[in-house]
Amino acid sequence: MTKKVFIKTLGCQMNEYDTELVRAILTKADFGFVEDEDKADIVLLNTCSVRENAHRKVYGHIHSLKHRRNGNPVMIGILGCMATGLREDLLNNRHLGIDFIAGPDSYKRLPELIEKCCSKEVEATGRSPVQKPFDVTLSEFETYSDVYPSREQGINAWIAIMRGCDNFCTFCVVPYTRGRERSRSPENVLKETRRLVKDRFKQVTLLGQNVNSYKHEGSDFADLIEVVANIEGIKRVRFMSPHPKDFPGKLLDVMADNPKICKHIHLPLQAGNDRILNLMNRTYTQAEFLKLVDKFRAKCPQISLTTDIIVGFPSETDTEFEDTVRVMEKVGFDAAFIFKYSQRKGTIAARKYPDDVPGEKKTERIVRLNQLQKEISRRKNRALIGSVQEVLIESASTTGSPGSYYGRSDGNKTVIVAPGDYAVGDLIQATVTDASPNDLKAEIAQPKE
Ligand code: 5AD
Ligand code: SF4
Repeated sequence: MTKKVFIKTLGCQMNEYDTELVRAILTKADFGFVEDEDKADIVLLNTCSVRENAHRKVYGHIHSLKHRRNGNPVMIGILGCMATGLREDLLNNRHLGIDFIAGPDSYKRLPELIEKCCSKEVEATGRSPVQKPFDVTLSEFETYSDVYPSREQGINAWIAIMRGCDNFCTFCVVPYTRGRERSRSPENVLKETRRLVKDRFKQVTLLGQNVNSYKHEGSDFADLIEVVANIEGIKRVRFMSPHPKDFPGKLLDVMADNPKICKHIHLPLQAGNDRILNLMNRTYTQAEFLKLVDKFRAKCPQISLTTDIIVGFPSETDTEFEDTVRVMEKVGFDAAFIFKYSQRKGTIAARKYPDDVPGEKKTERIVRLNQLQKEISRRKNRALIGSVQEVLIESASTTGSPGSYYGRSDGNKTVIVAPGDYAVGDLIQATVTDASPNDLKAEIAQPKE
């Protein structure tokens, strides 16, 4: 009988994409899928280990699943970043009762790993931790370019153009959990994009841990995004994320010249102080970051900028933290994702720097930055009232008035559009009527097409 699988995805967009790859691989191997976790024979958790709370979520999820199953068997497999870093802990922990593990480069072996778990001999005798099937080998070549991800129908499709990371920021586990950088060929990315157009997707978001490290034979990221944007039928192209150390002028030119490439850059700052940036191995200074922002704005005044920030990196003093505050004030990001530093096993920071900023200090700093960002976002969004924004309509709105729709502006802001003559998938011109720190309200100005 067909085994029924449920996949729970935690973490970033790259993990969402990987879940779609796993779905495609398992569908081909004749597995079925269920929406209700409690009806599944196999539960796969696609995990993240970037921050500690992601860990807690995984353990919490497994405990509640076991509790709900009340002794009824369910096979549990761990995928993703935690699989690589925590293989032994996970398999040896009898309370968790995990059956198998597959790291980010081993998903093609999933049918085989599951098959091993299902063998009759094991059902009769139980399996000791050492016998549990796993594969967490990291590859220098695997890009899954021969797998067309099984996506849920929608407006946006993620496309991983590269995998892995070679940057070794000292706080980050990704280089260890996802391995070395490798890029897919432009032909392969184009083929996937053309198929997405046929499947009625309107927007693609090109994903990489550092898109500007994309390299395939003679092509760089600017070449790639330009050809993707030129594909007929794709209305918008986005990308995530560049690293401030290398944002070429060529990419900025391509963005400025191509109306289909959204004028939004997610540019992780991480910290505003040079000593901390150096300890983080970010390889740029505050001044260089600010100069890059000026360059963006000179070329593209309407550019929307978002960022990631870590507070309480080891040894960060109050004065050094004030540098981060100053950069946030100077740049005026449209949105910021702010995290408390969380020591990750195996990283350079965990080996070299004691996690010595007290928890209350980290909380104080994160609260301060979130407040500041809220004020900035409110100011920036309110300045858009009366302007006309191009909005790609994604779905019916669950929060706006009845009949209103949810979409995103070119700058990636959430827009709630009043009922009008448009439909999901349309790119419309909408006049902004109201704004809060989190979203814009708008009404249709005129249909574009
Ligand atoms: N602690 C806190 N935040 C982290 N991030 C990555 N590693 C850590 C860590 N150890 C944040 C960074 C990164 C985002 C995806 O997660 O800001 O840009
Ligand atoms: Fe982690 Fe730095 Fe690579 Fe981003 S660039 S994935 S923060 S090591």
